[in-house]
Parts: sequence; C-alpha cells; structure tokens
Amino acid sequence: MAKQPKAGKVGETAKEKKGKKRAAAKLAQEVGKAKSIAKPPSDREADLARAPKWQPRYPGSGRLDGKVAIVTGGDSGIGRAVCALFAREGADIAIVYLGNKGDADDTAAIVEGEGRRAITIKADVGKVAAGDKIVARTIEKLGRIDVLVNNAGEQHPAADIRDIDPDQLQRTFATNIFGMFYLVQAVLPHLGTGAAIVNCTSVTMYQGSKGLLDYSATKGAITAFTRSLSENLVAKGIRVNAVAPGPIWTPLNPRGGAPADKVAHFGEGTPMKRPGEPNEVAPAFLFLACDDSSYMSGQVLHPNGGTIVNG
Ligand SMILES: NC(=O)c1ccc[n+]([C@@H]2O[C@H](COP(=O)([O-])OP(=O)(O)OC[C@H]3O[C@@H](n4cnc5c(N)ncnc54)[C@H](OP(=O)(O)O)[C@@H]3O)[C@@H](O)[C@H]2O)c1
Repeated sequence: MAKQPKAGKVGETAKEKKGKKRAAAKLAQEVGKAKSIAKPPSDREADLARAPKWQPRYPGSGRLDGKVAIVTGGDSGIGRAVCALFAREGADIAIVYLGNKGDADDTAAIVEGEGRRAITIKADVGKVAAGDKIVARTIEKLGRIDVLVNNAGEQHPAADIRDIDPDQLQRTFATNIFGMFYLVQAVLPHLGTGAAIVNCTSVTMYQGSKGLLDYSATKGAITAFTRSLSENLVAKGIRVNAVAPGPIWTPLNPRGGAPADKVAHFGEGTPMKRPGEPNEVAPAFLFLACDDSSYMSGQVLHPNGGTIVNG
C-alpha cells in the first residue's frame, strides 16, 4: 500500500529536509496516507456512513422489455443502480459479483421486486475461465443475452509509482480491462443484431489522476477498447459504448479505494461541488443499452458533475 516519502536522510541539509517534509505533507494532504483508509465494520453497501441512492427515479417505459442483461459488479454501487433501472425497464438480470454475497442477494431482491428474474453469479472476471462460466450460467437460467454491461472494477491508491505492488498492478489490469476481453469473447456467439455492450470507464481517464496511476491507465485502455470494439462489431449490428462517471458515492472509494481524508471531501472538486449518486449514472447506461441510442456506437457519456473533458 502507499507509503509517504520519508524526510531526513543522512547527508541532507536542514533546508533540504524541511523542503522534503513540506512536500511530503502536501502530498499526504492531497492523496492521503494509505493507513488512514476507512474500513467500515460491515461489507454491506447499505451500512456505509451514508447509503448510496440506487433507486430508479421514474416509472418504467418498457425500454428493455423481454431482454436479458449481464451486469458485472452488479451487486453494489453503480452496478446495483443499473440492475434496478434495467429491471424497471423490463430486463432480467445476471448479477456478477466477486465476493459480496450479501449485496448480490440484496440486488437480486431489488430486481425481483420489479417483477423480473435475477440470478447471481460469483466470478472473478479477471480469470480467463470466468467469461465462459458467466455466459453459460446466464444462457442456462435466463435463456438469452441482449446486453452486456462491463462495470466491475477495482482501485487502490498509491502516492508514489514505486509503491504500486507488481501483483496489484497485474490484478487491477486483470479485473478492469482483461476481464472485458474474456467476457466479450465468451458472449459474442450469443449476441444478435440490436445487442449492446456498455463499458464503464472513468473521468480519471480524461483528467489523469496522480494517486491512481494504474487504475486510470486501465480506464484509458477501456475507452480505447470501446472505440476499437465498436468498429469491430458495428457490421454485426452490435453497438459498443461507454460511460465515464466522475466521483460517485459507492463503496469503491470509502472501502479502500481512496484515503479517508479524500473521501471526506469526495466530489467537492467538481463544478457541482458534490459527489454523484449511482441513480444519476444508471440512466446513461440505460440510454446506451436500449434503442434510444440506436445511432450511437464507440461513444462515451460523462455523468461527472459538470467537468468538461472533451471526449
Ligand atoms: N465510484 C466512482 O467514483 C467511480 C468513478 C468512475 C468510475 N467508476 C467505475 O464504476 C465501476 C463500478 O464501481 P462502483 O463505484 O459502483 O463501486 P463498487 O460498488 O465497489 O463496485 C465495484 C464492483 O466490482 C466488483 N468486482 C471487483 N473486482 C471484481 C472481480 N475481479 N471480478 C468480479 N467483480 C469484481 C465488486 O464485487 P464485490 O462487491 O463482490 O467485491 C463490485 O460489485 C467500476 O468500474 C469503477 O471503476 C466508479
């Protein structure tokens, strides 16, 4: 985990020591200390200091009637809000999660509460075999696949690039981008004309993020992947787009994805001066998943509190 630079090496002048201390303090203030990361006692999304808002904000209008969607990272945060909204719009959902069964069951209950079918699939999307497993279970239980939402992701803050552990680096890339390849490879034979793939990238891809070097690099890869896959699949009638959220109040940051002092001011740096809620992001996924966006592919939507990113 992230170590802060130490001041006071042998041979340094007092002025150099003071300068280093000041730089370290500034860095700590900006990106925080890994050891100060907040760890709430419960794993449940609802037990965060403030529960994220996932509830759909309007009645359904049948935009996904009769369709089946796979949503990775569907148990919590943005993924939960996407599952809830897609279900309200008529879709059955395969909810893919890594380990948080409690949240996955809660989200399945939300989908069923909308009168739709839900299955939960425990899988590590970063493993090659996960794609086939997820697709086989979905076809077996729900019969078809129309929409793939590649939303699972992980992030680990590090102030200094030398603090990024090689294993962690591999894992972040495996989860955030390799998993998208594995799942698309597995799902492709089941997607017909009119199908849609929606990937989750991030504002950090456009702005950069000095404390999230590996994470933001995976998000850059996701945007390039989205554009390339769009060109690759457009002739088959399959559209591929992405959503690039800004700071959204989900478990990702308060549960280890950001230092506690950054979490305390989460979202304040946006023009709207607040974090977004998952149910303010889910409509972007819905738009790209349904026929409302039938003339769009290879594009990115930016629910990010008003930050202009030109992309
Ligand atoms: N929140 C933000 O500010 C923000 C901003 C920009 C982009 N995003 C992106 O939004 C997406 C969703 O994140 P979120 O903010 O909604 O946070 P979240 O609630 O923590 O969601 C992350 C999800 O990814 C799942 N996951 C992590 N590693 C996995 C793996 N190897 N295999 C399968 N599933 C895995 C987690 O499953 P478990 O719960 O079972 O561990 C969880 O459901 C991510 O791609 C993230 O990068 C978030």
